Order: sequence, then C-alpha cells, then structure tokens
Amino acid sequence: MQPKPVAVRRESYEGRGADGRFYLGDAPGLLDALVPEYRGQVKLIYMDPPFLTGERFVIRARAGEGDWKTGRSSLTLPAYDDDLDPESYYALMRRALEASRELLRDDGMLFLHCDFRASARLRLILDDLFGPDSLLNEIAWVYHTGGTAKRYFSRKHDTILFYRKTRSYDFNISAVVAPPVKPRQNHMRKHVDPDGRVYRSIRSNGRVYTYYDDDPVPPTDVWDDVSHLQQRDPQRTGYDTQKPLALLDRIVRCASREGELVLDPFAGSGTALEAAKLLGRRFVGIDKCALVPNILRRRLDGAPWELFYPEPQIPEGDCRVGILSGVGFYHARLEQVPMPWDMLDNWALGYLEGDRFRVLKQSVRSRKEPALLPELEVPVFNGTLGLRLSDVRGKSHHYALDASDFNNPNV
Ligand SMILES: C[S@@+](CC[C@H](N)C(=O)[O-])C[C@H]1O[C@@H](n2cnc3c(N)ncnc32)[C@H](O)[C@@H]1O
Repeated sequence: MQPKPVAVRRESYEGRGADGRFYLGDAPGLLDALVPEYRGQVKLIYMDPPFLTGERFVIRARAGEGDWKTGRSSLTLPAYDDDLDPESYYALMRRALEASRELLRDDGMLFLHCDFRASARLRLILDDLFGPDSLLNEIAWVYHTGGTAKRYFSRKHDTILFYRKTRSYDFNISAVVAPPVKPRQNHMRKHVDPDGRVYRSIRSNGRVYTYYDDDPVPPTDVWDDVSHLQQRDPQRTGYDTQKPLALLDRIVRCASREGELVLDPFAGSGTALEAAKLLGRRFVGIDKCALVPNILRRRLDGAPWELFYPEPQIPEGDCRVGILSGVGFYHARLEQVPMPWDMLDNWALGYLEGDRFRVLKQSVRSRKEPALLPELEVPVFNGTLGLRLSDVRGKSHHYALDASDFNNPNV
C-alpha cells in the first residue's frame, strides 16, 4: 500500500529513566519560549555555542551499510556556520544568557564553554547578568590535540566560565573526585599509619596538615585529565565540534543530582544530553542543525524523550509498504522508499496522535547493526498506525497507514 504523507510536529520515544526533550530551532527564541513553563526549574545549564571562529563546520556522515561496517564517512554535509559578525554574536549570546538565568533554579549553575576569542566579552555579559561575585571558576580545559603554531604559542585550551545563580548553589565536588595518580608533594614528611596507609604531613602556622596518598583528589580549575576525541574514537558521531563525554560527565555530576533538569541550548551532537541520560537527569536540548535528530536517535536510545520540530515535516517522494495485520500486532515491510536505500538512516513504526508521532519500534543504523531492518512489528493500539523515514541529510518523512486499506491489494 501507499501510505499517506502527514505533517508531524513532534515525535516521542518510549524508554526507561528520566525524560528528555529536544527542540530543533533557534536557541534565543526557543529559550524565551521555555521560560513560562520552566522558569526557576533548571539545575544546570551547559552551553557550548559557536566560538566566533568564522569557520564552517561539517558532519562526516555514514551513508549505508558499507560505511557503517567500515567506519568510513562517505558524505560530508554542512552542520553549521560560525560566521556571525561580533555584534550579532554578542547580542545573540546576551539574549540566550538572559533567558538562561530566568530558567535556572536558585541553587542552579551555568557553565559556558568558549575560548580565547569570545571569553572576555562573554564574561562581561555574565558578570552583568549574574553579578561579578557569581563567577566561581574560569576552568581551563587543556588538551594536546591539533597542530603546532609558529607565530604564537599553540592554543591548547578552552575556557569554561562557571557561574552560580545565587549563594545557595548546590555544588557537589565529592561526585567528581578521582583516584590519585601520583603521590602528593614529596617535600612533606612521609608516614605510615597503623593500617599501613601512607600519608604525608606538613606543619604550617602551628597546624599540622596530613594527606593520605590514596585519598581521592577533587579536580582543580585546570582540567588536563580529559582528552579531546581522537580521530578514531568510538564516541565520534562525525559532528565536527563534538566534546568528549567525560567532560560532560564531570559537569553534570558535580552540578546536578538524579532527576534534576539539565539544559543545553547549543546541543550539537548531544554530548550533554547523553551524559544527562546516563546519569539519570532530565534534560532539555536545543540546536538549529537539522542533522542533530539522527545523532540523538542513536545517543538517546533507551531513554524516554521527545523531539520537537520547528515546523511540520512534510514528506516528498514515493513510498510503498506491505502491511500484515495479525492478532494483536501490525507488521510493516518497506517495499519502496523515496530515497536510495543507502541514504535511509533510520526508520520507525508507531502511532499518530494529532501532530505527534509516538515511536514504538525503530531501526537505526549503527556500528553494531549496520544494516537497517526491512520489517518492523508493533502491537495494535487505538489510533492511526504511522511510519517515519529519516534520510542521512536530516529530513524526516512521516506517513499515516490506514487500517481499512491493509488487506486490500489494490491500494
Ligand atoms: C560547538 S557546537 C556544540 C557541540 C556540542 N557541545 C557537542 O558536544 O556536540 C555549537 C552548536 O551550536 C549550534 N547553534 C549555533 N547557533 C545556534 C542558534 N542560534 N540556535 C541553536 N543552535 C545554534 C550549532 O548548530 C552547533 O551544533
């Protein structure tokens, strides 16, 4: 049968754990729109906006089973252009930060990831909105990837500006302590306690300070223990400016607790959203790049989350599906899709409820499962059976499957 194209504004995914949302669209406008619903409810905001580089960023996408098997990316697609003039950039950031402050809880915190290009003016904007006393750290995330400069010192760190909303912020350093890598300062006297543990002591101003060699160590404001993603890192999604999960794991752990809400308004490949999912935090993400939903369908697999499109997605091209309706289930087989098969990135079967598509089963290409399943099966529910096809370029096509046509070979 030939399914009927339908306009869909949002998709929901079933799963376990804390729930999340992702909005495809422009951050400042969406943040303003979120304020009435979420004012004072967000515990942690992590933002990794464009850095004012003037560059164009891409995604190296995998198209088809062959690419997923070999790990090759045969398609390079534009992801976003970091090309705003400085005045427009700072106006956008001020607006996004103003709304962000409204969204934060009184015990909430904001981490703004940037680099030498914009950190000075972003800090002034943040000082203005949050108060200069609210700057807790200027974190240097130090990495060793990239080339070597000849006309200046090689730039090997990003800056993360860490602000609190009020003095009663809820920061949990004990959640991010790490085992010691080397014994502490050797100028201290070394002792062994009755249990055989090694500790060092030093006397200063009449007080004796003791430090055990095996005490866990909290991070300082220089983060040189989280490496940037290597070219062949299995975490890599192909998104140019993807950050490592370990970086976001640290931020999410120390600045939020289970069940609390984490927001990333420039979510990109969804690193912060995945960290939130893995740590049982609720999350809201925003990004204007149409390629992001395909990445999130992989990274957020298993979590209950909703995807909001800025405008209804209307399909183009011919699609044919074979439907089998059994006792208590529908079984759908893709017979023809409106794109070359290798350009189909993922597809889903579920139910249409107004302009919402409730996904019950999906097949998504991945390293583990490079081939798409040609058939999916879902239980019978009230409502209209629906289908979504998403191509590698980020376009989603939604269709309704009319139950009265299922056993009619002429439709
Ligand atoms: C540095 S990347 C974020 C990378 C992300 N942290 C990750 O780990 O993948 C910046 C993101 O901001 C998005 N972006 C830029 N301008 C935007 C805007 N006005 N509204 C929403 N997203 C925007 C880009 O599409 C890009 O994905």
